[in-house]
Amino acid sequence: MSLTFTSAIQPTIGHEIMERLHLLAQYTEQDGMMTRTYLTPAHRGAAGQIAAWMRDAGMTVRRDAVGNVIGRYEGHNADASVLMTGSHFDTVRNGGIYDGLLGILLPISCIANWHKQGLRFPFPIEVAAFSEEEGVRFKAPMLGSRAIAGTFQQSVLDHVDELGITMRDAMKAADFNPLQISAAAAPRDSIAAFVEVHIEQGPVLLNENLALGVVTAIAGATRYMLELEGIAGHAGTVPMHMRHDAAMAAAEFALFVEQRCSHTPELVGTIGQWTVPNGATNVIPGRVVLSLDVRAGDDAQRLSATADITTELERICTRRGVRSTLKKTYETSSAVCADWLQQGWHASLERNGCTMRSLPSGAGHDAMAIASVAPIAMLFVRCGNGGISHNPAETMAVEDATLASDVFMDFVEHFDALNKNTV
Ligand code: GLV
Ligand code: MN
Ligand code: MN
Repeated sequence: MSLTFTSAIQPTIGHEIMERLHLLAQYTEQDGMMTRTYLTPAHRGAAGQIAAWMRDAGMTVRRDAVGNVIGRYEGHNADASVLMTGSHFDTVRNGGIYDGLLGILLPISCIANWHKQGLRFPFPIEVAAFSEEEGVRFKAPMLGSRAIAGTFQQSVLDHVDELGITMRDAMKAADFNPLQISAAAAPRDSIAAFVEVHIEQGPVLLNENLALGVVTAIAGATRYMLELEGIAGHAGTVPMHMRHDAAMAAAEFALFVEQRCSHTPELVGTIGQWTVPNGATNVIPGRVVLSLDVRAGDDAQRLSATADITTELERICTRRGVRSTLKKTYETSSAVCADWLQQGWHASLERNGCTMRSLPSGAGHDAMAIASVAPIAMLFVRCGNGGISHNPAETMAVEDATLASDVFMDFVEHFDALNKNTV
């Protein structure tokens, strides 16, 4: 879908960003839904379009071995460390069009503006369009940003998608060389800072009538895939007390997860996938496959919750005569945003007449992966529709996109002084 403007409306930078967000939504795996997972034809199409917009904005573009698209806007000093920004261009299944993409398209439009004016900075700016963050296809998130941080785990190459294709084979089929992944890592000290613009994906800014907020820290996360194996049997003949129903063990387990995570602010637990392979109405479930995602701003709280949850799983399964297999697919500590960069965002908010509001992020972001090699910070943009995200109802106002662009440009234009003050 493309936005049209009446002659009375002057298109702003926000309109350009909105229009491109809608254009990119055409690259989807499922008609009528926003689904773009790693290394699919839709993913390849979106990468090509992003690269084209980067070139139009005056950037040189490179593609690395995990499929990140990186645009570079050269500075006066090509050897200076880089101000990196960006976010991801994959999506969850049936998700929204703003998650991740805003953080790619907004800086591209800002750079196009500077390029038109012939304005360059003492440092290069790189826009990283990370190829994978959501962890949907191969149950391993942040593949793109981890490759740049040099923390890509080779073991995930053996993960398989729903069709049994390994990530290694999917990469080769898409012309990426898994043996070259380590070369995607940014050289030591080459990134002066990483800043990510992202929709908030929650209701805080909306409820306070604020367009923008500065992130203080990003919650850590632990993820597992679980398999519970009971005994499949005839739904009409096996008495209730003689069953080893894997789905009922999963149900009891799920309620424990909810109860354990309900009484600590900022601790959350989610079972987002729950399947009974080969299940049927008249068969007692013999096998269940579940995902588990536990997050908290405080790492100790998350670790204590996951320890209790795994102990309880064992207890439930023993009592019910069900076997459990647990595989940790992902773990990351919480990431704190650098004070000096947060102050930089606040100063830019103030210069643009915005209220200075700080908030933590419960959602994971590429910035967490980059935090192992560079100071990070994030700017959140208000969502509409109650703050809903990972849902087709996800939305954002064009005026907020324009304001976020003004604040981003102000931040970059003051970045050199900010950076020098910290050394
Ligand atoms: C990414 O969107 C996550 O927080 O799971
Ligand atoms: Mn997301
Ligand atoms: Mn995201």
